[in-house]
Amino acid sequence: MKTRITELFGIQHPIIQGGMHYVGLAELAAAVSNAGGLGIITGLTQKTPELLAKEIARCREMTDKPFGVNLTFLPTVSSPDYPGYIQAIIEGGVKAVETAGNNPQKWLPVLKEHGIKVIHKCTSVRHALKAEAIGCDAVSVDGFECGGHPGEDDVPNFILLPRAAEELKIPFVASGGMADGRSLVAALALGAEGMNMGTRFIATKEAPVHEKVKQAIVAASELDTRLVMRPLRNTERVLNNAAVERLLAKEKSLGAELKFEDIIEEVAGVYPRIMQNGDMDAGAWSCGMVAGLIHDVPSCQELIDRIMWEADQLIRQRLAGMAG
Ligand SMILES: Cc1cc2nc3c(=O)[nH]c(=O)nc-3n(C[C@H](O)[C@H](O)[C@H](O)COP(=O)(O)O)c2cc1C
Repeated sequence: MKTRITELFGIQHPIIQGGMHYVGLAELAAAVSNAGGLGIITGLTQKTPELLAKEIARCREMTDKPFGVNLTFLPTVSSPDYPGYIQAIIEGGVKAVETAGNNPQKWLPVLKEHGIKVIHKCTSVRHALKAEAIGCDAVSVDGFECGGHPGEDDVPNFILLPRAAEELKIPFVASGGMADGRSLVAALALGAEGMNMGTRFIATKEAPVHEKVKQAIVAASELDTRLVMRPLRNTERVLNNAAVERLLAKEKSLGAELKFEDIIEEVAGVYPRIMQNGDMDAGAWSCGMVAGLIHDVPSCQELIDRIMWEADQLIRQRLAGMAG
């Protein structure tokens, strides 16, 4: 399939694997890229720029296809070494960067100078327009359904995507709630040029996470996610578990008095414990409502082939048939 997104990134299928903390390692990124999508290594999961450089080199050994790196700009006090990470990306010959979390304007000139295409993740039309205005090549539009940080506007993709299509000139991918060929065809119909998936890619053979994480996603329904940290205006959609229930109880009892320190036990440093050790109640971890549509653990190749086959069938048979 050819869209402005496949052209922009030089990939076969318009499917991107979004950056995911402690999931987006070289194994997953390479598997997605080898299957014709765009795999993404999560920059900040690597503790230092040197480790990111090694991860990029490791990915390069596993694929000769294009892959990207996610740079999440966190609202933290002590900022990570972003210039160092960007240097590692440039020196590693990576040609695609997914930015998220905050305005990437400061870093665009150096990325562009090295021919790196930037796709910025946004949860609103106004942020998408801002990304376009500052020179991003594309945006990933994340609806309210998404795993991770859906922002504070709560606009689901059935509204957000066509609104983005009404306003944007640069291409965008639909993100949040995407799982299969139906998602892809719907995303294209709503104006997107492809789709970005997070949760769906965790439940794949190559995702380098504990088997219990994959099984938790397969077992979960669309009713099993919760929104946490809403009172801190840092909303995150996570899979419900004992730690999340404890966290929500604290949010309820403390109300407007809630501070980050009150919930640190449930949110800080939990990703390695969950993703690597399978300690499933260790804390809150991002997961999308799309878990309700995930029923198996295929390889990335099987998943992407299936999506493209389903999309093709839908377009050529179901939709063409209806159009008469
Ligand atoms: C476990 C997990 C960790 C994530 N970590 C990050 C991250 O570090 N940076 C980022 O930009 N997005 C992160 N995301 C968001 C995804 O890249 C993607 O935008 C989102 O999962 C799309 O929604 P979906 O899960 O419904 O497909 C994460 C999502 C999940 C599920």
